[in-house]
Amino acid sequence: MSPDGASRDNPRTPTFAIWVGHFRDNLETQAAMEREIPWGAPCTLAGPDRAAFVRSFQRFELGEDGDGARLLAKARRAGDPEYVEALQMLVAEEQRHSALFRRGLDHLGAPTLSAHWSDAAFTQLRRALGLRTELALFLVAESVATDYFTALATRAPDPVLRGIGRRVASDEVHHLRFQVDRLHVGFADTPRVVRGGFGAVWTVVAAGAATVLVVDHGRALHACGLRRRQVWLGGMRRFVAQARAALAGDAPGMLGPALADEVAAATGGTRH
Ligand SMILES: [Fe+2]
Ligand SMILES: [Fe+2]
Repeated sequence: MSPDGASRDNPRTPTFAIWVGHFRDNLETQAAMEREIPWGAPCTLAGPDRAAFVRSFQRFELGEDGDGARLLAKARRAGDPEYVEALQMLVAEEQRHSALFRRGLDHLGAPTLSAHWSDAAFTQLRRALGLRTELALFLVAESVATDYFTALATRAPDPVLRGIGRRVASDEVHHLRFQVDRLHVGFADTPRVVRGGFGAVWTVVAAGAATVLVVDHGRALHACGLRRRQVWLGGMRRFVAQARAALAGDAPGMLGPALADEVAAATGGTRH
């Protein structure tokens, strides 16, 4: 067994090459989805709803930006050039999410933010951590935000915002599985009891992150017909399921990219 948990005698054992292929193919899907967004349509929102989405998009625009240089350096030190290549492509996808939220703010007639405490705190925390824990934080953030992106995709009261939601949600479904695949490899040799300890600490962090999300984006969630408690619970449920898969420590193998049905469910039934 190799240190990354893959069997050397089985050439069919998947490697991160499947993820490199996915991120490469996804460029075309993303372009097709972006072409469907009616960017030129006038904004249909006014008053408190418009202000709620401005506040929410400003936070996501900041949170999804960043060159990932430190994260990529940690990944390089851990070896596996295929993983590093895939991670680079994931960082680029996150930057494109930030650009989509920027475009959304433009549509809403609002500026971007230069800083926000929750983003600054999250960035400081990530810098101080090792690769596995930083990826766990990615998993936390993506797990707790997924229901919001799906609600944006299906229930936002404006077609451009729905288009942005669909576009982002369609990527995040894959991102969750990508983080799980790397964490699974990273914890393959960790004793079960230690893995349990990591899971417990992550769950506490996830509870905090879910609370920040529902407070920061509460009004936008409400405008999409969601209640804070419902989003908090849904995010935690999703996180616990993903963390279990990441910390399973069982036979090697990868989840790989999501199937079309899962993507369709996350984006409100749009299949590409
Ligand atoms: Fe993202
Ligand atoms: Fe993501």
